[in-house]
Amino acid sequence: MKGVCLCGGSGTRLKPLTNIISKCLLPIHDKPMVFYALKTLVDAGIDEIILVCGGTFNGEFMKVIGDGKDLGIKNLCYTVQREPKGIAHALATAESWAKGDSVALILGDNIFTDNIKDVAKNFSSGASVFLKEVANPQAYGVVEINEQSKVLSIEEKPACPKSNLIATGLYMYDQTVWNRIRDLKPSNRGEYEITDLNKNYLETGELNSYKLSGWWADCGGSLDEYTKTCFDFYQMKGN
Ligand code: DAU
Repeated sequence: MKGVCLCGGSGTRLKPLTNIISKCLLPIHDKPMVFYALKTLVDAGIDEIILVCGGTFNGEFMKVIGDGKDLGIKNLCYTVQREPKGIAHALATAESWAKGDSVALILGDNIFTDNIKDVAKNFSSGASVFLKEVANPQAYGVVEINEQSKVLSIEEKPACPKSNLIATGLYMYDQTVWNRIRDLKPSNRGEYEITDLNKNYLETGELNSYKLSGWWADCGGSLDEYTKTCFDFYQMKGN
């Protein structure tokens, strides 16, 4: 399995901080935000990674991460999403690089403490999403599951969420993902949504879900959320 880490997008919700630096390079405690996402992949045994950037500060990623060896990455590539047309669109930039392997996709503004090594090792086909219970599900991809953890529905930022469980920014996909992305249509906000890709797997009965038990944060929602994540992370580390 190879890893794809997304750091594109325009970072609008974290302006004015993102006027001078990419969102995923903003500090969380003692590291740039994206280091945590890269570590989640490396800790899962995924050390061939492509980093997708796409904003004004693409060169800065190379300055900060370099060849990735200090982070335990064996083989790091960079690519550029020319326009911020959605998470599934950004994933598609990695197609020729992935060369038929399955991929773990992680959003560069998400922080996880779970180790997903076993799920990665046992992944064979379909798609997997990693779930977390939150107080404000309407800000995320909301997932409804039954008692056997079978996914019943998945909706992007619904006004009336069917559950408190959301899909975090970590996904695993088999080699059929590229053809499925080609079938997607842009959403009302003009983006190729990751939730529509996951829905495609749900419709073919191939979407699996895992509940995370560790700490998780999406640092990119708003300036308040970013500040709160910095604070919570500091406390979680036992300071
Ligand atoms: O954090 C989990 C959530 O992430 C999921 O629950 C949602 O289903 C999913 O849509 C996503 O929601 P966000 O509103 O947080 O996505 P955002 O637009 O902030 O993009 C997340 C990351 O993806 C961001 O760090 C940069 C990258 N990205 C985003 C877009 C739209 C790209 O690389 N290219 C893009 O075009």
